[in-house]
Amino acid sequence: MRTPFIAGNWKMNLTIGKARELVRVLDKEIGAVKDVEVLVAPPLTALAAVISELHASRIKVAAQNCHWEAAGAFTGEVSPELIRDLGCSHVIIGHSERRQYFGETDETVNKKIHASLRAGLQVIACIGETLAEREAGKTTVIVETQLRGALKGLSAGHMEYVTVAYEPVWAIGTGKNATPDQAQEVHGHLRTVLRDLYGSAVADTVRIQYGGSVKPSNIKELMDKPDIDGALVGGASLEATSFIGIVKCRG
Ligand code: PGA
Repeated sequence: MRTPFIAGNWKMNLTIGKARELVRVLDKEIGAVKDVEVLVAPPLTALAAVISELHASRIKVAAQNCHWEAAGAFTGEVSPELIRDLGCSHVIIGHSERRQYFGETDETVNKKIHASLRAGLQVIACIGETLAEREAGKTTVIVETQLRGALKGLSAGHMEYVTVAYEPVWAIGTGKNATPDQAQEVHGHLRTVLRDLYGSAVADTVRIQYGGSVKPSNIKELMDKPDIDGALVGGASLEATSFIGIVKCRG
């Protein structure tokens, strides 16, 4: 009942020219796919070009971050309103690289999610434990705290516009993905938390993506798990063949 959702997070990669080249191929190959929702998140500099290339496509476009204020004296920041104005439908919030390197906290993640929904953007909210946290047996507590923190104050109605991305930090960019069982264990718990917050009807409709070294070779067994509804793909989304392979994993 949940449409699979595959998103490509390009991070700080690809010039405008390379971004155009990539989405032209993606649009040709998977631009009309109906049984999977597909999204790309280019760097800010390539957003306008990608949006223009994809104007007639089913592929959606996200920004990778935003500020929590709508406008004002915040040099270097970009508000959800400006992102919406550009033509993005989505924004990624709380990616672990933002938490690790740019001081993102559960509180700022929550403010950014509220601001994005107010501006009419849909949100991919990222959470995930570090290797030290996993080895200390704290995975469940950490991801639950991050999820509750991210969603604080959001109504059941808001959840129609929110996707959760579980990305174990130790699996991001390392080539070491969580096993399908490890991922399912966390996804299942996150769904329980959603059920506690919003009831079963809502919890059953929220997509939970897995992220961390997703490739064409491991996507299918991840997606076969009952609570894994798609993927947030980094490295493998920078290359057309691998991203298309992931989107088409069910043939
Ligand atoms: P990766 O990145 O696929 O390169 O591990 C995933 C992510 O950070 O979203």
